Amino acid sequence: MGPLEATFGVEVLPVFGAVEILTKSPTIWWRARRAITLSEMRIAILSQSAEIYSTRRLIEAGNRAGHTMHLLDYIHARIQLTARGTRCFGYGSAPVPKLTAVIPRIAASATQAGIAIVGHFEAAGVYTCASSEGILLSRDKLRTLQVLAREGIAIPPTAFSHSGLESRALVQSVGGAPVVVKVLRGTQGVGVVLCDTVGAAESVIEAFRSLQATVLVQGLIKEAQGTDVRCIVVGGEVVATMLRRAPAGAFRSNLHRGGRAERVKLSDVERDVAIRSARAVGLDVAGVDILRGKKGPLVLEINSSPGLEGIEGITKLDVAGAIVRHVAQAAR
Ligand SMILES: Nc1ncnc2c1ncn2[C@@H]1O[C@H](COP(=O)(O)OP(=O)(O)O)[C@@H](O)[C@H]1O
Ligand SMILES: [Mg+2]
Repeated sequence: MGPLEATFGVEVLPVFGAVEILTKSPTIWWRARRAITLSEMRIAILSQSAEIYSTRRLIEAGNRAGHTMHLLDYIHARIQLTARGTRCFGYGSAPVPKLTAVIPRIAASATQAGIAIVGHFEAAGVYTCASSEGILLSRDKLRTLQVLAREGIAIPPTAFSHSGLESRALVQSVGGAPVVVKVLRGTQGVGVVLCDTVGAAESVIEAFRSLQATVLVQGLIKEAQGTDVRCIVVGGEVVATMLRRAPAGAFRSNLHRGGRAERVKLSDVERDVAIRSARAVGLDVAGVDILRGKKGPLVLEINSSPGLEGIEGITKLDVAGAIVRHVAQAAR
């Protein structure tokens, strides 16, 4: 496909015309019409392509619920600012109509571009299920952990120093080797390194520093045994969960790293921690990742646009539908 000619205006109108044909009574017609106008919304998915599983599923779910769904490619969108207000245009300068809500699906590689467009809609008073601040926060592992810790949410022992002279102290302060060294802005398991000795950790920290990558050091949660639990929180409720298991001999459970999804049941404590975590970072829709520690759940990180393919596949739940239902309700 070319540079997304359909970027703005993957617009599938709901089939409510049928209601008008079905009824000849003006009162019923008027009532039906009114109910439709009240429930129908214009929702834009901020995403780079309708070919992405999650984007496609959200568009389908929205259409099924009778909303007018748009795809707005935030990379090619243009915003125009004046003292009198701001306007947004899609690819090829197509004006974006008045929206009721946006669902941001911002790639980690384009955070800045994405939050510029999310910020536009926030300023215009359009509901977004992920605030620009929440997106930015969730992209920084250390800032996220700081916010969670402040809320009293348990996290793995974590240490940070900008100084290259503190490596040994960092490792010691999280309980000694083995430790996990992590790039603050990494995703999909890239830049997450298990170091078995203090010496190895020192070398890895030094190597990342020389590449201008900022890292944190974390104690390895051995009891998790290469698994973590992904919880999808939507509007203050956990709507789906899965356990991810790293391939044999590995410790990163990311599905992109060959991890396998399994069904899992959450404990009440885990559920509560997931909901509080999403709220703490200001995300109405979030993927909260939990490690099962000896003394209870430890929150690892939070994703502002959790992938739907793995979790819908394993749970057979309509997560996209749950997101759209929440967005439509919250935007009202
Ligand atoms: N402190 C830790 N203890 C045990 N396992 C960890 C720890 N940190 C990360 N992992 C494993 O590595 C995976 C990737 O780490 P994570 O911090 O989520 O980075 P990413 O953003 O790249 O997914 C996690 O899903 C988990 O399986
Ligand atoms: Mg992760």
